[in-house]
Amino acid sequence: MTEIAEKGVRHALEDRETERGPASVLRQLEHWRLAVGDDGIAWLTLDRAGESVNTLSEGVVRELGSMLDAVAEAKPRALVIRSAKTGGFAAGADIRDFRGVTDAAAIEARMHGAHRIVDRLAALDIPTIAVIHGHCLGGGLELALACDHRIATPDAKLGFPEVLLGLHPGLGGTFRLTALIDPVEAMTMMLTGKSAHADKARRLGLVDAVVEERHVRAAVEAAAAGRMKRVARGMKAKLLDLAPARRLAARRMRAEAEKQAPSRHYPAPYRLIDLWEEHGGDARAMQAAEVRSFAQLLAGETARNLIRVFFLREALRAKGKGDSGVAHVHVIGAGTMGAEIAAWCSARAKRVTLADLDPKALAKAIGVASKFYGGKLHSTIERRDALDRLMPDFAGDGVDKADLVIEAIAEKAEVKRKVYADIAPRMKPGAILATNTSSIPLETLREDLPHPGSFVGIHFFNPVTKMELVEVVAHDEADDETLRRARAFCGDIDRLPAPVRSSPGFLVNRALTPYLAEAFLLLDEGAKKETIDRAAETFGMPMGPIELADRVGLDIGLEVARSLREAFPDEVPEIPAWLKQKVESGDLGRKSGKGLYDYDDKGKPKKAEADEPPKDMADRLILPMLNTCVRLLREGVAEDADTIDAAMIFATGFAPFRGGPLHYARERGIEDVEAALRRLEAAHGSRFRPDDGWDILRGKG
Ligand code: NAI
Repeated sequence: MTEIAEKGVRHALEDRETERGPASVLRQLEHWRLAVGDDGIAWLTLDRAGESVNTLSEGVVRELGSMLDAVAEAKPRALVIRSAKTGGFAAGADIRDFRGVTDAAAIEARMHGAHRIVDRLAALDIPTIAVIHGHCLGGGLELALACDHRIATPDAKLGFPEVLLGLHPGLGGTFRLTALIDPVEAMTMMLTGKSAHADKARRLGLVDAVVEERHVRAAVEAAAAGRMKRVARGMKAKLLDLAPARRLAARRMRAEAEKQAPSRHYPAPYRLIDLWEEHGGDARAMQAAEVRSFAQLLAGETARNLIRVFFLREALRAKGKGDSGVAHVHVIGAGTMGAEIAAWCSARAKRVTLADLDPKALAKAIGVASKFYGGKLHSTIERRDALDRLMPDFAGDGVDKADLVIEAIAEKAEVKRKVYADIAPRMKPGAILATNTSSIPLETLREDLPHPGSFVGIHFFNPVTKMELVEVVAHDEADDETLRRARAFCGDIDRLPAPVRSSPGFLVNRALTPYLAEAFLLLDEGAKKETIDRAAETFGMPMGPIELADRVGLDIGLEVARSLREAFPDEVPEIPAWLKQKVESGDLGRKSGKGLYDYDDKGKPKKAEADEPPKDMADRLILPMLNTCVRLLREGVAEDADTIDAAMIFATGFAPFRGGPLHYARERGIEDVEAALRRLEAAHGSRFRPDDGWDILRGKG
């Protein structure tokens, strides 16, 4: 037996549960394996070398070309494509290949080469069948779409997330998907980037059958024998092959897209709509246009910055790798933050006990959790399991057994320290005590602890379920191992850890406060709140500072601004008296139905028409935030500029297509930013003085 054949047999024995076809291998390349069974069915298996997940690198696609030659020679009666990875079929293109490419013509040439190979797969005159488990995204789905049939196992998830990178599908997805299923459904999938689970994919006609793993072989046989029916495209789909119907639908799509991602910042959805409107129903023309448009997008600034954001996320995710040793989390305080932290942790497979002095708060928290599970978790079993793992703990007994205790009670140092004095002696050896404080220096809180080394800040953002970032806050006596485990815990629960040093406001609140405070000053000067928000939104923020202040809660914003003004009087302007009065009279923002805006019963602010913002208004809001980011870098609160960029994007939604605040400053030109700050300093005061940290960013620090 040859070495290759031996490997094939071993594989087949090791993975009995997953149907991979015959054991004897006809051809093995670096990433692909081809085997043909006695039944005449060829199995082509993708197992990307050196990676735990399949992605379609240029090498993988090139090898597919060679494998198609081998298939032609072997003359099987059908061809199956399957993945050897447990996680899924393929996660999409290898985004590393996209990095730093700027030449649209060169990208176009490369894409044409890849298309020729996928077209050969599509043109094979035998039945071709993609067997899909787990993730089947982007380029992976494009490969599956080039097959005649798609058979999915129930865990399959299919989608086109390209739009999140400022792109649209580029390997045939646009014309193959719109030709296969209802084009409006197809466009919705590509425009939103949302994936479809197996059942939905079956309903859409994206897959022909959903079968349990043990029935895969029978399903393959049925498809190979021509006994598998495809879901037929309906009348509506056919109508949309006609230009006037497409024009109407395209207009509606553009209006919808504009609400989600304005065209001036996010070109991809609009290029995709143009593509379909102009060429829908004409596969050849649409393919040529897809390649051209994809290449232009990939070479453009938005995609470049969104790809940068993808790698920033990966870099933070990498900091959360490893074993946290945390199975049981005890959360103290079931208020706004504690309730969500507890719900989130149990949805991510942690055992959670949740304690509060107030039994009503606990009852409410369980309600919050079950509502969250109802909306977010896929199956009733997942929902039931998540609720089972979350235990209201009236007596606070969970402290003794927990691997991690997260304190999320009122923002008062004395109260927190009293709680620590009670629980610290009861905690398991090796357990971590974490605080969710947003403003109290950790050095103050750790003073009387018996094991200050295992104390750390794990600072979540509100709402916990939406904000991906968590600041992992060090202090002068924190153990490295505690910090590492805290980061790994963030990784466990699918949040992104940003390591920061304890300093007032840590990273995100410190950088955000000058932005919010400047907006309050503008209000004082008579600017309309809608106009202030418009200025920031036009820059690319997901919402303006006035709406954001209401969203955070004016009471919390005021508390943070007060303490930061005390610590950094040069950086944070005076907080207007009317803000304090608003908080005292209970107008706390969105949560109380009234703050700077009034809110309707759906929680939407009632806004008047905005004026055209003056030219320097966006600079006046954004540049103080940038100046503080540079200061944070100089003070070493974060270890590097990328951590700051990532933290601001994943905690505040800072205009992702700009690649982060410091990246934006570099792209705009540091001299230009400093000159604008100096102009603002002359007009409005010393808080705009450029920080010395700009030299560090320039590489001279
Ligand atoms: P909250 O006022 O909504 O909830 C606090 C809860 O703690 C209440 O249910 C209260 O009954 C309970 N509690 C108070 N003393 C307790 C004790 N000794 N033992 C057990 N339970 C006790 O407060 P929120 O907003 O959830 O804030 C909690 C912590 O999280 C604070 O340190 C805050 O700075 C921080 N934080 C708040 C954010 C926000 O947007 N609300 C964002 C990030 C951090």
